[in-house]
Amino acid sequence: ADGDNPPVRRVSDWDAGRLSGLADAHGTPLYVQDLDRVRENCERLLAAFPDADVRYAVKAHTGQAVLETVRDAGLDAECASAGEVDRALAAGFDGSRLHYTAVNPPARDLDYVAGVAEADPDLTVTVGAVDTLDRLAERGYDGRVCVRVNPGVGAGHHEKVTTGGAAKFGVPYDRAAEVTRDAAERFDAVGVHAHAGSGIDPDQLDSHRELVARMGDLARELTDPDAEGAAPLDLEYVDVGGGFGVPYEEDAPALDLRAVADATREAVAPLPEGVDLAIEPGRYVVADAGVLLARVNTVKPTPDETVVGVDAGMTDLLRPAMYDAYHPIRNLGSGRGREGGDAPPVGEREATPVTVAGPICETGDAFCENRALAEPVRGDLLAVGVAGAYGYEMASQYNSRPRPAEVALDDGTATIARRRETLGDLTTVEREIPRDRAGRS
Ligand code: LLP
Repeated sequence: ADGDNPPVRRVSDWDAGRLSGLADAHGTPLYVQDLDRVRENCERLLAAFPDADVRYAVKAHTGQAVLETVRDAGLDAECASAGEVDRALAAGFDGSRLHYTAVNPPARDLDYVAGVAEADPDLTVTVGAVDTLDRLAERGYDGRVCVRVNPGVGAGHHEKVTTGGAAKFGVPYDRAAEVTRDAAERFDAVGVHAHAGSGIDPDQLDSHRELVARMGDLARELTDPDAEGAAPLDLEYVDVGGGFGVPYEEDAPALDLRAVADATREAVAPLPEGVDLAIEPGRYVVADAGVLLARVNTVKPTPDETVVGVDAGMTDLLRPAMYDAYHPIRNLGSGRGREGGDAPPVGEREATPVTVAGPICETGDAFCENRALAEPVRGDLLAVGVAGAYGYEMASQYNSRPRPAEVALDDGTATIARRRETLGDLTTVEREIPRDRAGRS
């Protein structure tokens, strides 16, 4: 049934000729984001969770074309900052489809969002601390709020992205009911929220189930018409967060989305009348829709290993350096010519263990160590797969490197979605300061 819409697109599924053509036309490093695949991922989520509110965690990829694609597919937007709210508005999400999750929100973010809510009161603010509620009230905000709870249980591909259980996020579970009731006195309290973490794999479903069950309990407690001394709240939803994992290893199994959906529905049941389930996946929507293309510029055999130097690095894709994350890499070949002598077509080359390293002056700047690739030669193109989520989003200008370009594929047509930064872009925020004492003011 999933024939036309497989649960995962592997780096081996991309059209090598197409990617090589894009790299030739636009240079490297180059991100390629396939909007058709984004659309398919949205469709699969909506099919697995037909009765839930599905919100895209835009932090995974905030490109305008991606946001518009997700909007058209019918998902809402979950935003983590004023900047993300601003982008979502620009992409055409109106307040009723906007959820701002305020984590220790800077004053200027709250000012901005309170301003947006004045014009569009359907927007929802998710708060994880009483201070945030107070700060909203100080700004005259009396609109929709959702209370984020620390469910005391978490999951994720790495401890740095395991949010559930981390004290930073949400109010403690045993205070959640009280805080939500207090919020309802001052605001329109519409939901409760928890997020386990990012990159939940098939073997972490138990933690997910546990979190969902606790959130179901909380919703029932808050809406209970027979509760002593407390009026029932008119909640609209229970948001159990995102975090659905995607396989990065080429042979790792894909998450069975329908099984996750069934487990989620079962664990949250019975939902009180009028209360919906909500989810907010980011990675799942965009991860396998993107690749990063890098050109081999150096091949250096050493006694211990062969280092393959490429023009992309941790400034373009931070995940391997930051989380030791695995990204699949495929050699698309076509390197070396004339002076370097001919190299056999990539399909005829032997698999050789190589370390693929970037141009940044940090030892951690490597995409893999001693991994078997079809033997790379200078000029080859490498495709780093599953780079569509938290790829460009986490790019930086460290080492004064302009950020890469990104091409969007839409119905097969390639368009530059983000132009490559120039050296001039690196200094646009700098101002000259007087450097001789006499000239200082
Ligand atoms: N909702 C909330 C409140 C979140 O904080 C996040 C992610 C999501 C939803 C979406 O999680 P997802 O479905 O994308 O796993 N940079 C890291 C991931 C950080 C995720 C932070 N929060 C990485 O590259 O793995």
